[in-house]
Amino acid sequence: MIQAPKGTKDVLPQESYLWQHVENTMRKAAAVAGYREVRTPVFEHTELFQRGVGDTTDIVQKEMYTFLDKGERSITLKPEGTAGVVRAVIEHSLYADTLPVKMFYLNAPIFRYEKPQSGRLREHHQFGMECFGAKEPSAEAELITTLLAILTELGLENLRVHINSIGCPVCRPVYHAKLKEYLTQYKEQLCADCKERLDRNPLRVLDCKVEGCKRIAADAPVMLDHLCEECDTHFSGLQALLNGQQVPFRVDSHIVRGLDYYTKTVFEVIMQSGREGLALCGGGRYDGLVEQLGGPALPGVGFGIGTERILMELSNQGIVVEEPSVSDVFVAQITADDKADAFNVMQKLRNEGIKAECDHVGRSLKAQFKYANKINAKFIVMVGGDEGLRGMVRVRNLTTREESEMTSGDAIIYIRNNGEAGK
Ligand code: HAM
Repeated sequence: MIQAPKGTKDVLPQESYLWQHVENTMRKAAAVAGYREVRTPVFEHTELFQRGVGDTTDIVQKEMYTFLDKGERSITLKPEGTAGVVRAVIEHSLYADTLPVKMFYLNAPIFRYEKPQSGRLREHHQFGMECFGAKEPSAEAELITTLLAILTELGLENLRVHINSIGCPVCRPVYHAKLKEYLTQYKEQLCADCKERLDRNPLRVLDCKVEGCKRIAADAPVMLDHLCEECDTHFSGLQALLNGQQVPFRVDSHIVRGLDYYTKTVFEVIMQSGREGLALCGGGRYDGLVEQLGGPALPGVGFGIGTERILMELSNQGIVVEEPSVSDVFVAQITADDKADAFNVMQKLRNEGIKAECDHVGRSLKAQFKYANKINAKFIVMVGGDEGLRGMVRVRNLTTREESEMTSGDAIIYIRNNGEAGK
């Protein structure tokens, strides 16, 4: 039997309503914040991610699904959502329009060749919001409050946003040098990955989950003590706005993020349940990225959140989402000869927007009743028999157990009027 590739997941009909519930919540929250949808291709030229996400990141070095297409071009399946959106902003000169340009993407498929484990997939789906042309910290605050509105609306509790500032090209190099100097003293005690990180990107040592590295990182100099005036003012401004909205946040100097494009603010919401350190969401400011990818100097800020991790958190927090009915009405044919009439009644119900089904598999009348119960139908409309000869149908309300004879037109009215009672 051919199975789905490791680290991928099917979304089956019995669970897709959960995805739709999450999607609807995200769509609504994005719309009230003035964000419009953007859709970019599932694959891009590899160079976009090498230059955008950063050549030294784990994502680019180890995790990309890269291949040569038949035209010998190096193509990569999107390993994150931001670079593609930035490419689209530049390619379509969206910055020439009124700024800021605010966009979201919904359930974009993202591919990373990671070791599959709980909450870590090789294909996952992200909702992301990206805002271009806004240099003020209110842009971050807007993203964070919208993110929390989504999570709260979904019923999640114990939410806390961890925020940090990782500085800018003015203040970060000075800090990097200090951090490297500090970490070099402990080089031999660092894990193999961190030994490498020490040269490539010492900041990443700060969020290593290995105990020994965590102990060393605990006493490392922190970026927040080395921010330039502009970054410091920006970070204080963000905190004031979040405090003003009673946003539950914590300044956490260990949030550094795994992508190279961030400047100033970075933030994450950590999962309350599940493995230690697994982020529910991550984002931040990337003021240099548009320019770095060949566009004008245009600030950017955004976040991405994995739908699979939201669903995991909903389940871990015991949040139940009511499953909508598949069909409210089953139209039963009394004999096989009544098929066309039953089909006709079903079609009339559907034309009125009522969810209705009829038999397609040649079931006996008894088996049709069983099926109606199985799909949780609220009404059965029986077509044919003696009633049929009189131009009538028989309607059974499965909630009240009442049954009566009426015309098919009256049946529609009855079902519409008693829909609530039948629920
Ligand atoms: P990221 O932190 O790499 O950031 O991913 C964002 C979110 O995607 C994570 O917090 C998590 O919910 C989900 N996620 C990541 N990897 C996996 C995986 N292997 N399996 C399941 N879920 C996963 C970014 O991708 C940035 N582009 C976010 C951003 C947007 N920053 C600014 N704008």
